[in-house]
Amino acid sequence: MKQQTVAIYPGSFDPVTNGHLDLIERASKLFGHLVVAILLNPEKDGPFFPVPERVEMLKEVVGHLPNVEVDTFKGLLVDYARRKDARVIVRGIRAVSDYEYELQMALMNRQLAPDLETVFMLPAQAYSYLSSHLVREVASLGGSIKELVPPTVEARIRAKVG
Ligand code: PNS
Repeated sequence: MKQQTVAIYPGSFDPVTNGHLDLIERASKLFGHLVVAILLNPEKDGPFFPVPERVEMLKEVVGHLPNVEVDTFKGLLVDYARRKDARVIVRGIRAVSDYEYELQMALMNRQLAPDLETVFMLPAQAYSYLSSHLVREVASLGGSIKELVPPTVEARIRAKVG
């Protein structure tokens, strides 16, 4: 079962955090192939990192996981999942506050593609407060993000915000 199952972990990853990485490592142990898929969203204004740089950072931090692929997608997630032959969508839930939005997305995706299962996973408790948004904010206000993101991401953020 594990060998054949393709799972997709979609998101913005702007940038990838230690919380994302923790979830990727956990999911890579459960599924035969895990696709980390970055949404290409030209309408979402003001991305911190352009998508190609997000791809680069993700590829650097998942290099030790042979069954993990990094890709981008546009359009509906369920259509992309079908093209990738995926049966599972993985999403992380940190706190109760994530649940409502995640439930809505999961049920909408189920409406669109009944055979595709959404699996919610919990990151390590140490990362339950962590988000890309807060990392960007703390870094741009001069706070330390050393414990929050992989070293390559920290270096790139530092180079950006000075
Ligand atoms: O990291 P994010 O920003 O919470 O990820 C959201 C994402 C990319 C998973 C979601 O916006 C998405 O799947 N977008 C693709 C468009 C789509 O399929 N929309 C309908 C899903 S309810």
